[in-house]
Amino acid sequence: MAALLDRINPVDKLEVASRRVFLRVDFNVPLTREGKVSDDTRIREALPTIRHLLERGARVVLASHLGRPKKGRDPKYSLAPAGERLAELLAMDIPLTDECVGDGARKVVTDLRDGRVALLENLRFQAGEEANDGDLARELSRLADVYVDDAFGAVHRAHCSVDALPRLMPVRGAGFLLQRELNALGKLLAGPERPYLAVLGGAKVSDKIAVLEALFQRVDGILIGGAMANTFLAAQGHALGKSLVEADKLALARDLLQRAHERGVPVTLPVDLVVAGSVDAESGTVVGVDGVGPEELALDIGPKSVALFRERLLRARSVFWNGPLGLFEKAAFAAGSVGVARAIAETAGFTVVGGGDSVAAVQQAGLGDRFSHISTGGGASLELLEGRRLPGVEALRT
Ligand code: 3PG
Repeated sequence: MAALLDRINPVDKLEVASRRVFLRVDFNVPLTREGKVSDDTRIREALPTIRHLLERGARVVLASHLGRPKKGRDPKYSLAPAGERLAELLAMDIPLTDECVGDGARKVVTDLRDGRVALLENLRFQAGEEANDGDLARELSRLADVYVDDAFGAVHRAHCSVDALPRLMPVRGAGFLLQRELNALGKLLAGPERPYLAVLGGAKVSDKIAVLEALFQRVDGILIGGAMANTFLAAQGHALGKSLVEADKLALARDLLQRAHERGVPVTLPVDLVVAGSVDAESGTVVGVDGVGPEELALDIGPKSVALFRERLLRARSVFWNGPLGLFEKAAFAAGSVGVARAIAETAGFTVVGGGDSVAAVQQAGLGDRFSHISTGGGASLELLEGRRLPGVEALRT
């Protein structure tokens, strides 16, 4: 596979002084009920590119999506909280436009001075964003002279601001975050040190079919936890009570296990589980995979599973992890995710975690600096490791 950054200009090679730079970032950040940013990782990760552009005297026009608004402008999905957090981090005023296009946006951008930044309101308030619309791309292109993409979390979407727009911009390139993500994940794609193990969790097998199939061809073993493991365990004939199981995916799960077996890729499933009567329970009970009562549901992998996963992980030289192994938001069901995070942190090799929940589990365990790379893109990192071409990356090639 050609190097992921082939024919893509790095941002520090672009002439940006006194020029308007459209900087696509991924400020799709979680918000509290009060509308404050609850995790500003994605904003902080964009700072090196923003600071670089400001120091070079660029006029930075920031743009992002937030959430999945369906009805045009909706204050619930405003980028105002992200803008406020960025203003704190940069210690400067950051005007927010009321829409990403139109007279208001044009005026804010025209008034921008060198070394200053403005934020466009949520791109997804325009139907043309998700439709990858050419007219919207042309309108956005008039707001800037240079295009820089640093929104790794969104490069797998063929949306206007990451696909149609950069293709219209003769001067375009990749920000530092995008470069770092492509370099790190590119190592896993190109020639990872072996053994290479993937740990997959999360709720659904159906979300991970494509990545499982692709990983069978690339990895030396797959460890599966979270509710996704329930479907595999049920497919093997275990009774799982009221656990989340995708009943219509049992045949698929059996087929995936068979294919892994044929390829000689060992799949490790949990050997014990932490069960409770409801997701609201304050504590759980450890049982074997055949010990789930009819009224119980599995909410985490058990200690024997953690030990088994750990033993495998400590022998790995490359690890990719996506998806939590249990309901880690609740302390009673966090031990599986935290235990696996610790094991990966101790692995003497190249370790990558991607996906909002698994990254949150790593941060919650205070292990953020013990991973080789923490990806800001869940879906994007999975699609990249599937070996797919990502529209937002392809659009940057010159
Ligand atoms: C993400 O959070 O994974 C990215 O921001 C992409 O968001 P989306 O899944 O709504 O396109």
